[in-house]
Amino acid sequence: MKIAILGGTGSIGEGFALRWASKHDISICSREVDRAVKSAGEYSGELQEKGLFCCGITGCTNEEGIRDVDVVILSVPYGSVINLLRNLRDCFRDQIVISLVVPMKKNTWFEYTPPEQGSAALEIKEVLPETVKVVSAYHNISAKKLAKLELTLDYDVVVCGDDEDAKRTVMDLTHEIKNLRPLDGGGLDSSCMIESLTPFLINLAIRNGLSDLGIKFI
Ligand SMILES: NC(=O)c1ccc[n+]([C@@H]2O[C@H](COP(=O)([O-])OP(=O)(O)OC[C@H]3O[C@@H](n4cnc5c(N)ncnc54)[C@H](OP(=O)(O)O)[C@@H]3O)[C@@H](O)[C@H]2O)c1
Repeated sequence: MKIAILGGTGSIGEGFALRWASKHDISICSREVDRAVKSAGEYSGELQEKGLFCCGITGCTNEEGIRDVDVVILSVPYGSVINLLRNLRDCFRDQIVISLVVPMKKNTWFEYTPPEQGSAALEIKEVLPETVKVVSAYHNISAKKLAKLELTLDYDVVVCGDDEDAKRTVMDLTHEIKNLRPLDGGGLDSSCMIESLTPFLINLAIRNGLSDLGIKFI
């Protein structure tokens, strides 16, 4: 598959590129092509150093990157994602768009701050063409851990979406990351529950002297 990572130059984008490059063509997308090319080179270099196979990681602008791909990962902060997608709307056709976006703010503690649509995923769906299939996943995965290929991620990933085929594709992609277990979380309107767990996990970590917590249902 061809996978574009919007915001692929940032924290969690790196981990997806490294984890999926052995099976998929990855486009690292950025507002600045030079930044994208530099990150793509660094990620490819890291895989090469570790002797791992890489189908290809290339860098490009956000506009170029998303046009001819099967899957787009939205790996940009909540505060910028809606404007960004409005500007890129014409580049979308029927891609699967994965939102891992969490709207939250910090007062004394982290707080979930959903938009009036109920969740980031539902707001994102509203600004994209109807032909795009929005799936919500990976909100509770730590960027640091995802990028450390030597770590086995023994966590669950709740996947929400209204298109069953698109949800299945994202669950299959999740299976490709060693030990991550995808769980069907229902329709996109359930995304608020899983998005809201992220600030809760961060607060739990701070209160208990832990870091980079994930979730597992047993
Ligand atoms: N970090 C985590 O552990 C984690 C875990 C789960 C979910 N998430 C979610 O994943 C998303 C990305 O998180 P992150 O920590 O990777 O973010 P980040 O490193 O702060 O930013 C990712 C990328 O977003 C792009 N970006 C930043 N501001 C932008 C703007 N105003 N307009 C357009 N693009 C902009 C930048 O790419 P360019 O400058 O190259 O364009 C940046 O490299 C967030 O929505 C977050 O809620 C994060």
